[in-house]
Amino acid sequence: MGEKRSTLAVPYAVDLPDRVRKERYLDAGFYEMEAELLWPRVWQMACRLEEIPAPNDFAEYEFLDQSIVVVRTDDLGVRAFQNACRHRGVRIVQGRGSCERGFQCPFHGWRYGPDGANAGVTQRRTFAEHNLAPEDLDLVPVRCEAWGGCAWINLDDDAPPVRESLEPAASMLDAWKVESLRTERWFAARLPVNWKLAIEAFVEMYHVVQTHPQLIIPTRFGRRDEEGFDPDAFIDADIQYLRAMSDGMAGMTPAGDVRIAEGLRDVELPADPTLAIETWNRTLNDAVVRWHRDRGADIPDLNDLEARGINLTFFHCFPHYFVLPMYSGASSYRFRPLGPEETLMEIWSLERFPESDEREQPTPPEPWEADDPRWPPIPTQDFSNLPRQQRGLHARGFEYMRLSEGLEGHISNFERTIDGFLAGLPHQRLLPALAAVNVYPFEQPILDLGF
Ligand code: FES
Ligand SMILES: [Fe+2]
Repeated sequence: MGEKRSTLAVPYAVDLPDRVRKERYLDAGFYEMEAELLWPRVWQMACRLEEIPAPNDFAEYEFLDQSIVVVRTDDLGVRAFQNACRHRGVRIVQGRGSCERGFQCPFHGWRYGPDGANAGVTQRRTFAEHNLAPEDLDLVPVRCEAWGGCAWINLDDDAPPVRESLEPAASMLDAWKVESLRTERWFAARLPVNWKLAIEAFVEMYHVVQTHPQLIIPTRFGRRDEEGFDPDAFIDADIQYLRAMSDGMAGMTPAGDVRIAEGLRDVELPADPTLAIETWNRTLNDAVVRWHRDRGADIPDLNDLEARGINLTFFHCFPHYFVLPMYSGASSYRFRPLGPEETLMEIWSLERFPESDEREQPTPPEPWEADDPRWPPIPTQDFSNLPRQQRGLHARGFEYMRLSEGLEGHISNFERTIDGFLAGLPHQRLLPALAAVNVYPFEQPILDLGF
């Protein structure tokens, strides 16, 4: 595999799978190619469904120079349109709201129903008949499907359905009932880096030792001491880790789950380290499930999922969305390009709430800069490397990234899947590549994507 060269005629393509040329992260032409050939052909997470909880609620989703309106329908499905009046192109909506009485263009007052159908042309008689063909006056529909608690859009009518495009992550996240999660907190970061550089800072564990030394807790990372294993010290270390992932990671572990773990501090563990760790995990899983079910939240049996081999820690949903489950909750990330060297990264902390809970509609956060002192410790550490990396790429002597085949294979698989889109391959040939990337990304081997 190491020597296989790509056959795709894409400028700056990943020819050797463990070398990624720097132009992919800064060249304006490459960015333009992504804008033409990648983004309009992929499923994009456009909004969380709790942003549009009631029929006729809408939310605007912007990517590159495009704006899409996502609407909750009466039967609680979702639909979407391009946000441009069919008269002279004005964006019909900004932000979010309810369209119970339809939409009205702020310029000359053309009206559209919540289904996007044209519902009125002001001073209609002044237009020639050929400018009033009914099918030309409706807002241009965009494919929109709900999955996993989110509305997804795709500008490509030939793309397979969203769920198929997100496999195998979709099935595993369905088993975990990802759709029952709701927003607890929502943050946004403006990062002075290419969107792929931002994504790739999170898909390997190689950087953890150097960048996040506080996470090197032996029972979670690396070897554990077989000699002199002390169950109490182990529990302390594990709770410390959960706290670090909760406070330090903007709520990746729900605070409630950390409290549940703290309540189990006195549990009796066997002396054998492997058995002890198994017992602890099983006990904690059970306690988390019981606590959430008692308060009326929807949660699957976590031990049952583990027994079925479902590894619930991290899923990349190609191209720009992550779900990182921990016990009952998750962090979720979305990355959107704002320019060749600028990215909007959003972080959600997602939790399970009793089904009877009335939750406030989440509203998009004001983006903070990468060095904003309000970031918790773990993103602060990642965000301090990223701008330095983007600037470093400009060095005249730097040509390409050298990936560790053993630790950074996912980056290669991700970049080569992008090349498949840039080469204009048909969706059927891209599906196996998507299946290679919609996975747990750590320590993935470099895979043959079939092109
Ligand atoms: S641009 Fe919308 S009514 Fe004129
Ligand atoms: Fe990190």
